Amino acid sequence: MEIIIKEDYDQICEEAVTIIHQTWKKKNDLVLGLPTGRTPLGVYNRLIELNQNQEIDFSRVVAFSLDEYLGLNKDHPQSFAYYMEKNFYRHINIKKENIFRLEGTPKDVDRHCQEYEEKIKSQGGLDVLILGIGRNGHIGFNEPSSSLSSRTRVKTLAEETVEVNSRFFENKDEVPRFCLTMGIGTIMESKMIILLASGEDKSEAVQKSMEGPVTASVPASILQLHPQAKIIIDQKAASRLIRRDYYQWVYRNKERVSDFLERKKTISD
Ligand code: GLP
Repeated sequence: MEIIIKEDYDQICEEAVTIIHQTWKKKNDLVLGLPTGRTPLGVYNRLIELNQNQEIDFSRVVAFSLDEYLGLNKDHPQSFAYYMEKNFYRHINIKKENIFRLEGTPKDVDRHCQEYEEKIKSQGGLDVLILGIGRNGHIGFNEPSSSLSSRTRVKTLAEETVEVNSRFFENKDEVPRFCLTMGIGTIMESKMIILLASGEDKSEAVQKSMEGPVTASVPASILQLHPQAKIIIDQKAASRLIRRDYYQWVYRNKERVSDFLERKKTISD
């Protein structure tokens, strides 16, 4: 797990986009897992810009949605399908057939979830999954107490998540109570995970997830077990980290480590 602390929201988006861009350069048919929410918007905007400047081409890229509200169809303005279309897909040259979504109104929910898992596998698995984090430490819609090996399935939203997300609806009663989400087991199979967090209101969840015990009570804590998890956060989200100085020290020395290893290799060659 690599914890990257940047000054502010713009910088965390910049860092995430640089990583995605570099990964795409090595594999043009990148398989992405993508979240909704406020946090990834800056990443989507920068990727759109890169696409319009022809610095990144999405024609071979495949995208999977991380989660969806159950009961909202794709034309509902608060559905995640609508969000992804409005904020990202319609602005880039991704092919329609390469966009995979969890349906808000599937005929057979269990079957739909099962097929979603199979589709991810048939694409060779996720290469990069971007995540936000809930104030209670949820990832996707895997609320506290979700099994750490869960697969894509139906979940009941925690009351606090309903509360937080009610800002997007007329009132709290309009917020769906159920959702579909990639499971924690599904998330953990992504080759790389980038978790983004910005702002003071995420600092407690960030501290517990990154420095506390691995526990189903804080779903994001499972990322401590992922070999390629990059936690990109701003100063405010990092404000409660106990070992904040150490993470910054490691990051500052990152390039020196590669130089050092490179020099050692040249000498022994
Ligand atoms: C939602 C989503 C998550 C998202 C989280 C944080 O409930 N299901 O995928 O990461 O909330 O959202 P935001 O980035 O708006 O804080």
